[in-house]
Amino acid sequence: MKEEIEKVLNDLDSLKCESLKEVEEARIKFLGKKGEITKLFEEFRTIAPEMKKEFGKQLNDLKQKTQAKIEELKGTASDSVSDKTALNDLTMPGYHYTLGSRHPVSIVRQEIADIFRKFGYDIAEGPEIEDDYHVFEALNFPPDHPARDMQDTFFVSTGHKDPILLRTHTSCVQVRCMETMPLPIRVICPGRVFRNEAISARAHCIFHQCEGLYIDEHVTFADLRQSILLFVREMFGPNTQIRMRPSYFPFTEPSSEVDVSCNICHGKGCNVCKGTGWLEILGCGMVDPNVLEASGIDSKKYSGFAFGMGLERIAMLKWQVNDLRHYFENDMRFLKEFGTSVEV
Ligand code: DAH
Repeated sequence: MKEEIEKVLNDLDSLKCESLKEVEEARIKFLGKKGEITKLFEEFRTIAPEMKKEFGKQLNDLKQKTQAKIEELKGTASDSVSDKTALNDLTMPGYHYTLGSRHPVSIVRQEIADIFRKFGYDIAEGPEIEDDYHVFEALNFPPDHPARDMQDTFFVSTGHKDPILLRTHTSCVQVRCMETMPLPIRVICPGRVFRNEAISARAHCIFHQCEGLYIDEHVTFADLRQSILLFVREMFGPNTQIRMRPSYFPFTEPSSEVDVSCNICHGKGCNVCKGTGWLEILGCGMVDPNVLEASGIDSKKYSGFAFGMGLERIAMLKWQVNDLRHYFENDMRFLKEFGTSVEV
């Protein structure tokens, strides 16, 4: 028995396995039902009782050593044999990789930026946490205007007497531009905005807007109309029509809301445009002289226009995604619609 134990120990020392399959074969060879060590244990039952003490310990040590060696080999052996087969077999199907894709809101923001860059506009950004002055006061919101209400605005508790809040629109960036940029000013200001809304298919507490501002001498409403028309034709196609409806914003006078002809039914009426043939896409107007003066611009010499649009709204119209929540849930099934996947 002594020699047999030594032989197994030697075999174990020189044992090498490349793959998990070989490790399993080794385990069966030593420890399986008919394995060498199992056989030694059977033999042990028949040996003289005075020898049992010596060999019992040796056999138990041998079994433990073998189990430890098998575990060690399992850790180091790779399935390299099957890997090699896969590499050599060029007819095997490729691995499927999904490329990351841009978020639909980012795609829309980029398209808007590209269009206005062609018109000579710069891009400006401002802080998302703003003061009451830039979000409301400098934009001619009266102190009791409902938009300032807790119901619409998220306030940040700072202990300061001047309210600090999450901006409710990107129009505050136009104020910062008027304060700091030399005239004439031509900028768009894309960014994230926040409103205290219950989340539903049609409303969300976080969304994105893009503001536009043009200030120079002799800027007229006709310039505004033509700029918007050129923009929507680049964005939605060369045959797109616009319709301007009178509206009210505290920071523009006159103010207007702009509809584009429905790019799904081309004016005939469908469920996207709710049978009207028109889709509302932005608000705009001539910058109110009070707003110019608040930022130190001479309203006798300069005039300008401003406009603001919701990026999720444009994306909804572009891809007919009718539930705002999709834009924020990061559901891969939704995001994958805007990307590509490749096989390599
Ligand atoms: N700030 C407006 C809003 O959040 C959008 C807007 C309307 C911006 C008219 C403008 C504008 O610059 O002229 O609803």
